[in-house]
Amino acid sequence: MSLMLLGRCDGLCYEVRPTMPKKAAKKKPQPTRSEWAAVRGSQIHGRGMFAKKTIPKGTRVIEYTGERITKAEGWRRELARQERAGRGADGCIYIFELNTKVDIDGSVRWNTARYINHSCEPNCESQVVRGRVWIVAIGEIGPGDELSYDYYYDYEHYHEHPCRCGAKSCAGYIVKAPLRWRVRHAARKGKKKGARQAP
Ligand SMILES: C[S@@+](CC[C@H](N)C(=O)[O-])C[C@H]1O[C@@H](n2cnc3c(N)ncnc32)[C@H](O)[C@@H]1O
Ligand SMILES: [Zn+2]
Repeated sequence: MSLMLLGRCDGLCYEVRPTMPKKAAKKKPQPTRSEWAAVRGSQIHGRGMFAKKTIPKGTRVIEYTGERITKAEGWRRELARQERAGRGADGCIYIFELNTKVDIDGSVRWNTARYINHSCEPNCESQVVRGRVWIVAIGEIGPGDELSYDYYYDYEHYHEHPCRCGAKSCAGYIVKAPLRWRVRHAARKGKKKGARQAP
């Protein structure tokens, strides 16, 4: 069984900092806010984040924050999620792979960035900077546009994650850009097989 995690760990981002100072950790954290974007209903899935105004290229729109956990704990939570999804319950994935040792569980209430959906033609990307994850605009984003980034899911079990991003080049499934050709290839092969079997 494979882990389904957000983000793209290249193994280079070792510097890990706690998201909150120790003293503040006891207080209930307030939901993160962004001057650039707000949460509302999305046509892609559930709720999403939308630009409140023009967002210039390169802007750090919001931090993807959450609970910092070990890889082992990440595994445990992901397996529990897969079980829940198998029973038809909430199968949303919030665990972000920070580096080779640490994951961030972004399912916490205060992580507003958890609402950002995936797109096959995203306008943002996730960047790990000194142990923190930022959602950064990769081009200018117009007011009202939905923010999105590539969730970077692996090919394995791709059919469990249909994509509804609506982009022209949508692969039909949430799979990282470098592997989408495999999804398209499998779809073409499936069609040909179907055509041969038709009476
Ligand atoms: C981090 S949540 C995103 C926020 C979600 N829309 C919500 O309202 O909670 C990730 C989950 O959203 C859904 N999702 C995100 N992007 C999607 C897309 N392009 N197509 C279909 N479902 C998507 C999937 O269920 C995924 O596991
Ligand atoms: Zn798509």
